[in-house]
Amino acid sequence: MGTHMEIINESSGAIGCGIIGVVLLSLIWGSWRILNWVWLRPKKLESCLRKQGLNGNSYKLFFGDLKESSAMDKEASSTRISISDDAVPSRVLPFIHTNISNYGKKSFTWFGPIPNVNIVDPELVKEVLSKNFNYQKTKSNPFIKLVANGLTTLDVWMERVVHEDMKLGGITLLEGVIVSLHVMLLHYDREIWGDDVKEFKPERFAEGVSKATKNNQASFSPFSSGPRVCIGQNFSMLEAKMAIATILQ
Ligand code: HEM
Repeated sequence: MGTHMEIINESSGAIGCGIIGVVLLSLIWGSWRILNWVWLRPKKLESCLRKQGLNGNSYKLFFGDLKESSAMDKEASSTRISISDDAVPSRVLPFIHTNISNYGKKSFTWFGPIPNVNIVDPELVKEVLSKNFNYQKTKSNPFIKLVANGLTTLDVWMERVVHEDMKLGGITLLEGVIVSLHVMLLHYDREIWGDDVKEFKPERFAEGVSKATKNNQASFSPFSSGPRVCIGQNFSMLEAKMAIATILQ
């Protein structure tokens, strides 16, 4: 009987030790994953981007640029905007606008622990949109969804997450980095459209979209492009024409 009890005690002790071991290992593994997510991986991605000549704010633990960008958004949205306003981009995209003014077109921002590379070159925008398996929509990432939902639904910019390591315009983008396609900034780019870029001048499109730009570059993509182009494009254009024709009658 006594030996029976000893065996039971010993085996329950061993099970207890085993459970503590498993719990400890899970804790270490979990802590490592969190550390990797909030610090090691962002720092690795940051150094990879900086080595290739991209600039942006230094990564701040967990939040990245979130606090700064939401403060700027709040301040900007407290001012009124008019369509002929010279400051539309800085009013609609205050943080991105400031970031690009400070660091240039080869720049990045931080969505929490995820670096966000700004894409403001029309050819690179088209390249990303044409490779929809390599650059996927960000909807599947709950963190990005939570933070980015407001602006992406307005299509002020379009976001794609790099699905596997890719080269874009000579820059290597590691898996997990986000590319932000700033279509609105393209539409306000003086270098593409000329000094009258901010004027309401529909006649600039009289000979087609590409002839409207300085170097015949097709840089007008309000409906996106590539395989995931808006399926309502023709319908919307027709509707707009009908509305204008009705107003003019
Ligand atoms: C002026 C009006 C419109 C604009 C500016 C517009 C713009 C866009 C843009 C930029 C995208 C790509 C979004 C992204 O890739 O993140 C998109 C996608 C889409 N649009 Fe539109 N859209 C308009 C009207 C419509 C209408 C009227 C419909 C439906 C009848 C429609 C249906 C869609 C659908 C289904 C997609 C997703 C296509 C896909 O992912 O394969 N859109 N639209």
